[in-house]
Amino acid sequence: MFGCGNPRADLMLVGEAPGFHEDRQGEPFVGRSGQLLDRMLKGIGLRRDEVYITNSVKCRPPNNRDPKPDEIKACRSYLDEQVRLVDPKVVLTLGNFASKTLLDTTTGITRLRGRTYPWQGRTLVPTFHPAAALRAMERPDSPQMAGLEEDFQTVARLMAELDRPAPPPAPAAQVTVPDPDPDPDYEPEQMGLF
Ligand code: URA
Repeated sequence: MFGCGNPRADLMLVGEAPGFHEDRQGEPFVGRSGQLLDRMLKGIGLRRDEVYITNSVKCRPPNNRDPKPDEIKACRSYLDEQVRLVDPKVVLTLGNFASKTLLDTTTGITRLRGRTYPWQGRTLVPTFHPAAALRAMERPDSPQMAGLEEDFQTVARLMAELDRPAPPPAPAAQVTVPDPDPDPDYEPEQMGLF
């Protein structure tokens, strides 16, 4: 399962790996996580067909187990090529796997999120996986859903900055030449020669 959406999107979402329904339908995020994702996108004025959505791993790991490092590695060149072709300005990584893979780190998502990262000439925003936010909803004090919403607001801000026309070049600094004779009527007192 490769990816879907606008092949010229400014925003690319990268998940973990297809699940059962995604595998069947050939489209990423079509289950409950996908519904939450659609809701989050709607909240910032975007539809799924306006962005590009894909996964770090292109095949469904058996029994929905976590992807293995060699599976992530095997799919990496496909992901890199997708990024190169779509050329998004903002990349939103959903969850631990995508965030760690693209940022090439072992640091977990809880510590990674909450800020943006320059990445391959773009801006990367790491956030919680929507499935984790859904699971966490059962625990009232869980931070995942609020974190997901906050990170989507960050994406909205970055997208708005892209839409804004570049500011005109700053005018050349005004150089004020001080008046050599501030009082034209001033007549210095003649010094008596003798
Ligand atoms: N979870 C993912 O990470 N990707 C999908 O496509 C579906 C669920």
